[in-house]
Amino acid sequence: MKKIAIFASGSGSNAENIANYFRGSDQVSISAVLTNKPDAYVLERAKKLGVPSLVFNRKDFVYSSTVIDFLKSLNVDAIILAGFLWKVPIELINAFPDKILNIHPALLPSYGGKGMYGMNVHNAVIENKEKESGITIHLVNEEYDKGAILLQARTAITESDSSEDLAKKIHALEYAYFPVAIEAWLSGVK
Ligand code: GRF
Repeated sequence: MKKIAIFASGSGSNAENIANYFRGSDQVSISAVLTNKPDAYVLERAKKLGVPSLVFNRKDFVYSSTVIDFLKSLNVDAIILAGFLWKVPIELINAFPDKILNIHPALLPSYGGKGMYGMNVHNAVIENKEKESGITIHLVNEEYDKGAILLQARTAITESDSSEDLAKKIHALEYAYFPVAIEAWLSGVK
């Protein structure tokens, strides 16, 4: 059984989608949901799903090994960032080398890097009149949005699409591909 921890900073619809995908699986289980936001809706979703959760602050995450120790106590095999907005400290990357996956709501390397998250991404894509956008699922390294890319999926953008329309198309790709990409990746993780 591969055990995963999911990090989210906001709504957590991807976290819920992943938990539902693996419900009843004998291959993958969700050990915990972790968030840096005490009021993040992902905590409500975790409670409803019966998944343990942890709220942490910068001291726990960056200036001490509290979060790392928690993850090690659960013996997680992988960490999934699903809408997590803080930069991952090198200590966490070194504690879980090539074991941290992130999803970005654009076709990296375009529209990536600091400050490019959520609607900021979709607004920039629409403003630049791009003909397509998509998602990127990638390993996390010490540079924002720069780790090895595992999967990209694309969607066309019509002239009438608003940023909100694009966000809906991107979420649809995330829900369809993220759990499948995690499952395939974990089957190869030692
Ligand atoms: C998703 O669009 C994801 O690509 C990005 O943050 C958003 C999280 O949405 N990293 P949710 O919290 O899973 O609803």
